[in-house]
Amino acid sequence: MAPQLGTTFTGLRFENPFLLSSAPPTESESNIMRAFDAGWGGVVTKTIGLHPVVNVDGPKTKFLRSTPDSAHLSMQKRPGTALHSSWNWELISDKPLDWWAPRIARIKLAHPTRVLVASIMAGSGSDEELRHWQTLAKACQDEGADALELNLSCPHMDRKDMGSNIGKDTELVSVVTEVVKDVARVPVWAKLTPSTTDIVVEARGAFLGGADAVVSSNTFPSLPLIDPETLEFEMNVDGLVSPGGLGGPAILPLSLAKMAQLTQAFPDKSFSGIGGIAEFSHALNYFLLGCGTAQVCTAAMLDHAIGPNVIRNLLAGMTATMERHGWQTLEDFRGLRRDRVVTHSKIRRPDAKRYHGGYDEAEGYAAEAAGTDR
Ligand SMILES: Cc1cc2nc3c(=O)[nH]c(=O)nc-3n(C[C@H](O)[C@H](O)[C@H](O)COP(=O)(O)O)c2cc1C
Repeated sequence: MAPQLGTTFTGLRFENPFLLSSAPPTESESNIMRAFDAGWGGVVTKTIGLHPVVNVDGPKTKFLRSTPDSAHLSMQKRPGTALHSSWNWELISDKPLDWWAPRIARIKLAHPTRVLVASIMAGSGSDEELRHWQTLAKACQDEGADALELNLSCPHMDRKDMGSNIGKDTELVSVVTEVVKDVARVPVWAKLTPSTTDIVVEARGAFLGGADAVVSSNTFPSLPLIDPETLEFEMNVDGLVSPGGLGGPAILPLSLAKMAQLTQAFPDKSFSGIGGIAEFSHALNYFLLGCGTAQVCTAAMLDHAIGPNVIRNLLAGMTATMERHGWQTLEDFRGLRRDRVVTHSKIRRPDAKRYHGGYDEAEGYAAEAAGTDR
């Protein structure tokens, strides 16, 4: 039998496990319609909020590229380069909720079998702000959104009660998730920031609040490089820059490390993996660690804005890989490598007896000299 790419995640049926993540590829109705026509199993809308959004005066995203035969890294467009990462300081959608609401309805009407997830974001500093989460959640689900993704991870918020500032506070993560769950009739996913010491702590907060899934990673905090000639940051406004978010190939291994922590801590929970996915071999890492879906941003932005070739290759790559290994469904390989990530002391070394996890040998016993026979 041919491999089945369809899967069920948080109770929702997906034709395939690949979604466009919340970002420019999903900022408009026309983009989302094109994305579904191209074959994406799901789409997470660009984050919708209730507060005013005004972006910086200049480009919001640029791409850092390396030159294969040198160590040169630069955002300057030049031939013969390879993508290193995306860098952005774009805020959430600048379109209000009443712009989004009828569009959510129209998209679902046109694509009833595809999964449309509404990404939402509000503050958390007052009861009124918490009610904003409920307003957003109810409006999106009433228009037909299949799930809600809570943006607890936008790295560009000055407000202390928003975005990744919520995601860094496990209690706030819990409270916000619970407030949304109180009104939600659809699954609620919590998108956490990778910018904390131990993401397992915040994920626990999300699950305590009732989250149906945890999503990771949003972009990693970072700066653009300084041009050695002009001494200006390669992205700046009036010479000034603020920390932005790194995405694309550079964050694949970083995001996988976060995901391994998450799936090991909560092996029975649902996870959606994001970060650096451009082809199936990348997504496979997330699945083998235990993710049930995978999301893509940077690679899609660079492929006709919504990734028609990216999704074609993901689907072809998944089919070919499953055929090669004799897998029928994603469940045949989901989590197969979750338990291969262990503490350093569990890794075999040539002389295991002489290594005590980095600690000194027990006091009061003769030290074992190398090569001696006691
Ligand atoms: C320009 C840009 C805008 C983004 N906007 C949002 C957003 O509004 N909400 C959100 O949750 N994530 C946002 N993200 C983060 C992406 O959804 C994704 O988590 C991140 O880029 C990592 O995936 P990638 O390596 O495939 O790019 C944005 C990313 C970029 C590059």
